[in-house]
Amino acid sequence: MPQIVVVNHSGEETSVEAAEGVSLMEAIRDNGFDELLALCGGCCSCATCHVHVDPAFIDKLPKMSEDENDLLDSSDHRNAYSRLSCQVPVTAELEGLKVTIAPED
Ligand code: FES
Repeated sequence: MPQIVVVNHSGEETSVEAAEGVSLMEAIRDNGFDELLALCGGCCSCATCHVHVDPAFIDKLPKMSEDENDLLDSSDHRNAYSRLSCQVPVTAELEGLKVTIAPED
């Protein structure tokens, strides 16, 4: 199982195991990070699963859909490394990924 590092709103880093095949959102939420609200449950309609991804990994992630792009545009905290974590599947390639939970809008 890939290990990923989750950075919470206080800047604390926690290493967690993420099962391949689940979404990054599920991996974060199921490890007890309630700062990641994920209100729509992963159907790409709320943007409350916004994260900032380690720049070194941004090219390893699947391309962003138009819906994801539009939703991220509604966030004041969007940057070049923003993704909706429900749209990113966990794969072996993500071993060592560091992901920061974006501030709430
Ligand atoms: S959980 Fe709602 S957009 Fe990701």
